[in-house]
Amino acid sequence: MMRIDIISAVPELLKGPLDHSIVGRARKSGKAEIVVHDLRTYSTDKHGKVDDYPFGGGAGLVMTPQPVFDCIGSLRQVRKYQEVIFPTPDAPILDQQTVNKLSLHENIIILCGHYKGIDQRIRDELVTMEISIGDYVLSGGELPAMVLVDSMVRLLPGVLGDAESALDDSFQDGLLSPPVYTRPASFRGLGVPEILTSGNHERIRVWREEKALERTREVRPDLYGNFINKK
Ligand code: ADE
Repeated sequence: MMRIDIISAVPELLKGPLDHSIVGRARKSGKAEIVVHDLRTYSTDKHGKVDDYPFGGGAGLVMTPQPVFDCIGSLRQVRKYQEVIFPTPDAPILDQQTVNKLSLHENIIILCGHYKGIDQRIRDELVTMEISIGDYVLSGGELPAMVLVDSMVRLLPGVLGDAESALDDSFQDGLLSPPVYTRPASFRGLGVPEILTSGNHERIRVWREEKALERTREVRPDLYGNFINKK
């Protein structure tokens, strides 16, 4: 059982993705406990303000330390957290290996930043890990937090059935996934590779491996290079 505490000034953004599909199911069946905390409720400001103008000038507002220190402080009084993760574009890019490791933790906090950034003292004193989900800028940390949650929760024991095993995912073996097909075998004149309906499991395995290599070489030469060098 993994517990994830998410701190956000816009908790409404997190509702849908946490309540449905695989993550929603994992929560309902008690395999993941995910709690969202509204940062505004921790603000000592009478209007619930959580941001302010940057010292030295510049555009945009910066998240203030007080609500974040109080929120994380009160969470830490109840349980011990292995990581306090801050999604931000100026961080190492998240990959499957990192997700695999994180999914083994018992308790983690994800702190969603908003506006132009968060006061550096929060990063220096409270954040233990920073991740980016890619080289582009989003308006806040909520969507990256959902990306991280989904990628971790699907790895928890019992969350995916055997049929959807995460071991088959793209990246788990360093390669992209091969193409998949389902019924009907002929659709608007479009067929399915004959081998997949042959019932020959060994030939199917080899075909999938070839296709995975081919696709990785075409669209992700960087991954392909790593894979070949490792062998
Ligand atoms: N916050 C804004 N953009 C982000 C990104 N690309 N990754 C993680 N957090 C972010």
